[in-house]
Amino acid sequence: MKIFQTVVELQKHLLEINQLGQRTIGFVPTMGALHQGHLSLIDAARKESDYTVCSIFVNPTQFNDPEDFKRYPIQIDRDLEMLLEAKCDVAFVPNVEEIYPHGTLAKVDIDLGFIGTTLEAAHRPGHFEGVLQVVKRLLDIVQPDKLFLGQKDYQQCMVLQRLVQHCQLPVEVVICPTLREPDGLAMSSRNVRLSAEERSAAVKLSKALNAIREHIQQTPLDELLSEQQAMLSADPLISVEYLVVVHGETLEPVDTYKQTVPLTALVAAKVGPVRLIDNLILT
Ligand code: PAF
Repeated sequence: MKIFQTVVELQKHLLEINQLGQRTIGFVPTMGALHQGHLSLIDAARKESDYTVCSIFVNPTQFNDPEDFKRYPIQIDRDLEMLLEAKCDVAFVPNVEEIYPHGTLAKVDIDLGFIGTTLEAAHRPGHFEGVLQVVKRLLDIVQPDKLFLGQKDYQQCMVLQRLVQHCQLPVEVVICPTLREPDGLAMSSRNVRLSAEERSAAVKLSKALNAIREHIQQTPLDELLSEQQAMLSADPLISVEYLVVVHGETLEPVDTYKQTVPLTALVAAKVGPVRLIDNLILT
């Protein structure tokens, strides 16, 4: 596996690779602290493209909470070992100056409409502006054929699909399923920050989503959401930011279940000091 820290070195290498013959590049952007969920994206990229590039960059501009940025887990040596073992071809590990040589002020100007105002956007002001900024820059650098994203960041996937459409980027977005721990907790880099007690409480987020999926056809939606909200709120370690069932393609609120309407349940909550998100596609 090749490791590059600068844009110039990475692009020189990708040009050489391209000159060897037409190769499709699969790109997996990450913020490091890798887990099996990331490795499943590397796996998908290896299967669906000829050459796999993974970036590790903790993007400061997408953290609305400076404390969250400070505490974001960093384990670069372990990450590189994992990527090597996963047979990733290139790890791109730039610093802030490489990604933002002209500073961080220039943002990508895209009107995201409703998806840019609801759920994560409402609870983390400025977050998606930072995500758009860094992913646009990374796509410009790597120029991949395919971009691999995890469904766990459901709204982020929608936002990045908009980016690709809006800028007419010649890249296919491939969304891969969420990987879960045996008890159902969605894998996340932030899970390592949970204490043993918080870890036990955290599984309730996926339990709430599963209960919604199980009962949505029989129980009125508002009742079902209140029940699950109450189940989560009864745990003193959990503070729910949202637990909703929305239209799966627009994120618009829905008030009743209809088999013909795509529905997704999403949750965001702090478990102790750690903010976690999860979702389940219902129909
Ligand atoms: O999902 C993430 O880890 C980040 O938001 C991403 C896409 C790597 C951009 O920093």
